[in-house]
Parts: sequence; structure tokens; C-alpha cells
Amino acid sequence: MKKQLTKNLKPKTHNPKPTSRNPKPTSRSPKPKTHNPKPSSSSLFARACRVIPGGVNSPVRAFGSVGGTPVFMASGKGSRLTTVEGRVLVDFCGSWGPLLLGHAHPAVIEAVRKAAAKGTSFGASTPGEVVFAEMLRERIPSLQKVRLVSSGTEAVMSAIRLARGFTGRNKILKFEGCYHGHADYLLVSAGSGLLTGGIGSSAGVTAAAAAEVLVAPFNDPEAVATIVRAQGSELAAVIVEPVAGNMGLVLPEPGFLRTLRNLTAQCGVVLIFDEVISGFRLAATTYGVQSGIVPDLTCLGKIIGGGLPIGAFGGRADIMDKLAPLGPVYQAGTLSGNPLAVAAGIANLATLRKEPPYERLAALGRRLADGLNEAARRAGVTLTAVQLGGMMTPFFMNRAPRNMAEAKASDTRAYAAFFHGMLKRGFYLPPAQFEVSFVSAAHTKAEIEGYIEAAGAVLKGMG
Ligand SMILES: Cc1ncc(COP(=O)(O)O)c(C=O)c1O
Repeated sequence: MKKQLTKNLKPKTHNPKPTSRNPKPTSRSPKPKTHNPKPSSSSLFARACRVIPGGVNSPVRAFGSVGGTPVFMASGKGSRLTTVEGRVLVDFCGSWGPLLLGHAHPAVIEAVRKAAAKGTSFGASTPGEVVFAEMLRERIPSLQKVRLVSSGTEAVMSAIRLARGFTGRNKILKFEGCYHGHADYLLVSAGSGLLTGGIGSSAGVTAAAAAEVLVAPFNDPEAVATIVRAQGSELAAVIVEPVAGNMGLVLPEPGFLRTLRNLTAQCGVVLIFDEVISGFRLAATTYGVQSGIVPDLTCLGKIIGGGLPIGAFGGRADIMDKLAPLGPVYQAGTLSGNPLAVAAGIANLATLRKEPPYERLAALGRRLADGLNEAARRAGVTLTAVQLGGMMTPFFMNRAPRNMAEAKASDTRAYAAFFHGMLKRGFYLPPAQFEVSFVSAAHTKAEIEGYIEAAGAVLKGMG
């Protein structure tokens, strides 16, 4: 019979139309061998590696620093992911940041569905872009003008070009371990995947591009003062993640950001806060607004799109008006202000205003860090959980790092063991040490307690 069925199948057709020679199977017919066996992460990864470099479309997804096979996801709802194998995992990666409201939030999904039904892109202006820009400006008053783009990288590289065009200067100053997307000159001494992968900078970045980038340690105002005093007249911009999230979570020390503001103002240097991670993370605004330090330009991404591709940069009108079509700094994008992304962004920001999750996020985050520190102490494992609001990084070292050099002292092999132990117990963490675990509005207290209990067991096994 098996032979007969095989013979009946047209070559290369997996779903032949029923014909008299190849009848529709009835309940009594023997089930043909399935041509689409349930996918597994390992089989998908093997296929992916044949067509996608390294099997992934963004390097940190490859599990390079924790080892093992990347998990392929089928769906997400609230705080939970479902893998292609059907395992349900409590998600603390949150798509690397955008999902403050959790996966598939009904308001966001409904907004995207409605927008998609009207058309996915027009290449012309839409009312939603105006509404969204106004919403951003209302929540971040320093965004006198704002432009929408499609990713955090695009926001930052556009802001840098603008700062150069505005000042007529070339050099920029960034901080070791801060990641600002993958534009050439921003990959110098960058965090995130470069730090994880041990890549100091990227091949393909020209010496000329790298030479225009000065680098200082995070939280080192003296180093910044020395550079700005010596080279201020050549500096177009100082760019910083005000809360650093790409060397693990490293908090700004009191006075650090204020010093940056004062020094840049003295020398006519554009101060750029890259709030792609921190924007709308700790309050329904930026960290700049929260801390009372006003940068000249702010870059946004991740949360403002609720999981759709979006970015934004904005700030002082006299700088922003140098952008084309008003000014000489060219910046453009076929899909900029895309109606689906904008609809998701509007729904996201409106929900954050209607149901602010921030106090609860801070309480859950605090409990997560306290519980983890305590579990490590009991297990005899050296660990310091650094936390702010719903952001947390467990460093396997005995104190909170102040900068990249200190963060690198964390025992990354211990993080890898912790990651896999937690994954086995149903918790999906960022698959790399130098990243942030995110608590979302969809997480429950029981899930936080579950994480702490699981961590206790994992750490005991490591101690
Ligand atoms: C602070 C910061 N800036 C910029 C970017 C780049 O954003 P995107 O990955 O959307 O290009 C990231 C990405 O992680 C980031 O964390």
C-alpha cells in the first residue's frame, strides 16, 4: 500500500489536488507519511545555516557565547514564548527590549491589524505620523522636532550625521561598551554582540572612519573632560547611553551625565542621548527627562514601536531643521513612518499612559534582583544582580561594574551555565552575559518568584 501511495504522488508535489487516480484520503485510508514533520529548533538551525550566515539574522541570536543550539520560536503571548517544539518559556529577553507590554498585546495587535487592512505603505505622509510625533514631543519636551526612521541604528547614524552637518566638525566621542547600532564608526569599542563575541571593532570599518571616533570609559568624567578640552573644537557630538544596557546593565554614577552636559555645552558639541533601550523603559518618557538633563538630540527605538521596526531621533529645532528638505543634511527612508509601525507605536504609548506599569515593574525588578542575590549567596556563587526598574543583569562578580573594563571581569562561563540551567527550567534569558534581562508589564509576581526558585536550584548546582 505504501508503495502504491508513493506511486500515486506526483513528483515534487507535497499537496497534490485530489483526482480520481489520487483520491482524497478518507478516515479509513492509511495515513500517508507526513512530508512536514514537526520542526525542531535543531533541524531549523541546520537548514538556516545553509542559507543564512551563521543561521541567524542578528549575531547575538546565535547562542555563540552560551553555546548550544538557538531556540526557534513559534509564538508569544504576554510574558510567554512558545518554541517550535511546543515548550512554553517565561521570557526575560523581550525581543531585546521592545516588548514592555509583553508579546501580542491586544491593543497593539488590533492597531496593526486595522492599519494593515488600509494598506501597508504609501510613500506619502499619513495622519498617524503627525499624531505619533506629537505624542513623542508631549512626553519628551526636548524633542522640539522629531523624525521617524525604521530602526535604532538608523536613528543614531542619522543623528550623528546631523550633528556633523550642524557643527561642521567630524569627530565624535563615545563610551567603551556602549552600543549604538551597527553603523561603521559606531562599532569602535562597542558593547552588545561585539563585546560578547570579543570583537574589538568590526572588519570592514575603515581606519578613516575609526579615526574619527574617540572613546572614553563610561562613568569617567575626568577622561571626558581631558578629551573635550583638548579636542572640543573638532568634536561634533558626544553620544552616550544614559543608562548603559549593552555591557550588561551599568548605571550612571551621580554627576556623570551632568558633567557631559556641561562640557559639551561649553564647547558647542552636540550631546546625544541614545535612549533606544532606556526610552519609555523606566517611565513614560526618557531617562533624560527623568534625570532633568536635557540633551541636544535623543535617539529612540525598541519600545516606541512595540515590536515593529521603528526608530526616531529628535531634539533642538535649530539642529533638526538642518535636515533635508529644510536644510543640507540628507536623511531619508522608503519605509520611514511606516503606517503599521506608527499604529503600533501610538497604541503602545497610549496604553502606557492609560495603564502605567512602571511602579509595578520597579517592584518586580527589585524583587527579582534581591531574590537572585539571595539565592546566589545561599548557593555560595559570586553574583551581583544590577537592577533599575524592570532592567536587570546578573554579573558573576562581587560588585556592580562601573564601566566596560569592570563588566568584563564577570565570569561569562558561569553566565552560560546559568542561562542553560534556567532554559531547562522554562525561563528564556538573553543568550549573552553583556545584555539586560527585561521584566515586562505582562510578568506576574508568581513568575518572578518562579525565576528566583529556579535560579536557586541552578546556582546550587553551580556552587
Ligand atoms: C542603545 C542602542 N542603540 C541603538 C541600537 C540599535 O538599534 P537597532 O537594533 O534597532 O538597529 C541598540 C540595539 O540594541 C541599542 O541598544
